[in-house]
Amino acid sequence: MSRPDAAGVDPAWLPPEAFRALGLRRTLIRGAGPLVDTVRGEVANACGRFGGRLVEDGGSPDLLLEVADSQRGTGSEGFVFARDGGTTTVTASDARGLLYGLFHVVRLGEAAFDGESPRETHRPATALRMLDHWDNVDVHPVMGQVERGYAGGSLFWRDGRARGERERIRAYARLLAACGINAVCVNNVNVHDAEARLLTDRIGEVAEIAEELRSYGIRTHLSVTFAAPIVLGGLPTADPVDAAVRAWWERAVREVYAAIGDFGGFVVKADSEGRPGPFAYGRSHADGANMLAAALAPYGGTVHWRAFVYDHRQDWRDRTTDRARAAYDHFAPLDGEFAGNAVLQVKHGPMDFQVREPVSPVLGAMPRTRLALEVQATQEYTGQQRHVCWLGPMWSEVLRFRLQEEACVGETVRGGIVAVSNVGDDPFWTGHPLAQANLYTFGRLAWRPDADPLRILDEWIALTFPAAPERLAAGLHRVLGGSWATYEKYTAPLGVGFMVQPGHHYGPSVDGYEYSPWGTYHFADRDGVGVDRSAATGTGFAAQYAKPWSEIYETPGTCPDELLLFFHHVPYGHVLHSGKTVIQHIYDTHFEGVEEVAEALWVWEGLADLVAPARHARVAERFEEQLRCAREWRDQVNSYFLRKSGIGDERGRAVY
Ligand code: GCU
Repeated sequence: MSRPDAAGVDPAWLPPEAFRALGLRRTLIRGAGPLVDTVRGEVANACGRFGGRLVEDGGSPDLLLEVADSQRGTGSEGFVFARDGGTTTVTASDARGLLYGLFHVVRLGEAAFDGESPRETHRPATALRMLDHWDNVDVHPVMGQVERGYAGGSLFWRDGRARGERERIRAYARLLAACGINAVCVNNVNVHDAEARLLTDRIGEVAEIAEELRSYGIRTHLSVTFAAPIVLGGLPTADPVDAAVRAWWERAVREVYAAIGDFGGFVVKADSEGRPGPFAYGRSHADGANMLAAALAPYGGTVHWRAFVYDHRQDWRDRTTDRARAAYDHFAPLDGEFAGNAVLQVKHGPMDFQVREPVSPVLGAMPRTRLALEVQATQEYTGQQRHVCWLGPMWSEVLRFRLQEEACVGETVRGGIVAVSNVGDDPFWTGHPLAQANLYTFGRLAWRPDADPLRILDEWIALTFPAAPERLAAGLHRVLGGSWATYEKYTAPLGVGFMVQPGHHYGPSVDGYEYSPWGTYHFADRDGVGVDRSAATGTGFAAQYAKPWSEIYETPGTCPDELLLFFHHVPYGHVLHSGKTVIQHIYDTHFEGVEEVAEALWVWEGLADLVAPARHARVAERFEEQLRCAREWRDQVNSYFLRKSGIGDERGRAVY
């Protein structure tokens, strides 16, 4: 079906066929500048392929794409779409809006040129829709080229230097723009020695990447180390109130902007998992972030300060320390202290990208701070791109969740929506070809957080497999649509999390982290399982939520089933709202999860005649591994709980 394009990679959701409707038309483009040139290039390409043409003013176009100052209320990235009297019009006040309008027309296909359509204004819900690449410049001895990367090497770096594959980066930027992403951070949040230098003497390499990304409206960001004034500048301290330190950062930022005029800003992981930060100097995280914000402010840059701060050297014997509490305890008291161009970047859950977590209470506790939501497109804990796990429904749940009555998360994250990228130098971009759906869905949800994820999935299917027969579209929908729920069924139960193999985090190990310093425990014993995070008898985490959630999560009787073991330690015989006991729920879901994987594999096998052989084979091969791994999860989890509890499966299935 789709063949690799000029850059030798899969065209993903932009195969030439997706441009057919556009390429058959006469299009008039009004406007000037590099992004308008990008739009013109796209249209010219499509016309070259399908026989339409670009027309000059005076002709009668089927499609008018124009940049016009008069478009109020669309913002710099929005556009107005209308169709009347046989002409389809996309009008934007800025070329960026025009670019997004063009891809809107591509998505609509023939429907963009059909009948009449009243004026519709489209604009993104948030100004920053970003991908963070956890890419290393040097190959890290443990984490490799891409930390938590499951799609080969980095697109940007190889063996210590920039790859310089501009065409591929441009192809990537194009895919991102087509789903609405407008910012990319090009290096890992864990900034090691080589990566630290990107900020100073190696900024030229970043500038080359930025040039390609810019051609599709994407701004480049860098992860920096808080200790840069020491490790790069030779200063004795990185204390954020020290005048020499502040002056060092000001100089560094000036040089960055001299190289990259539209540089987006910094991403910072400080005082987190051993990274340096302001705590060493007795300063707060607001002090640290604001120092960088002050250096960036004159140029319009932003600092993304991560809230992933917790004690990773905890004693498992200590039941009072609760990692889930950490981000709120550290940051909520700082609300109102962060500069206007400082964004606090918060993981969606209080722990670490588990398949099921409650929404982080930090997202509801800092009304005077610009917050960004961070999710993981890379499937660290959700099958590492060997398993099909489409995360659209999970992200949508988070974005629609109302921590307070007035607003849902999608509305409160004024600082942006960020995903850790799932892309590498793999010919399919994402290792698992179907993991492309996660990247696409992320971009579209970041643009419109209240969109129906299943409609986005169908949109992705229609673009990626143009002119797909109904059987293929329905099959793909079936394989992907419920895959997150399936993954949840065969892995850690009822929100308890982890139970993964330590270090690489793939596959089951129920007690893998139980006696570790990482703060991720399930506390299973012969009587029960789960973490008591109630205010009455537990760690008090439940009280970090506003009402009604603090009350709902406080007791097992009101806590939603799917989060029960996140919030409570209950006996195996505890009866869920579903009517099942916890132990029977564990058995049932684990058997069901494996059956669902087997069924999805069967559906996929039935699509062999409709999918290009290389793509079909790659997915089929990964499905075999998913099935093997899901069985392993099922049998280890079920056997573990049978042995702990002594309570058998009431349906008498095989448990070991
Ligand atoms: C997870 C992940 C790390 C990563 C960290 C982070 O813990 O396993 O590889 O560095 O998140 O978000 O900073």
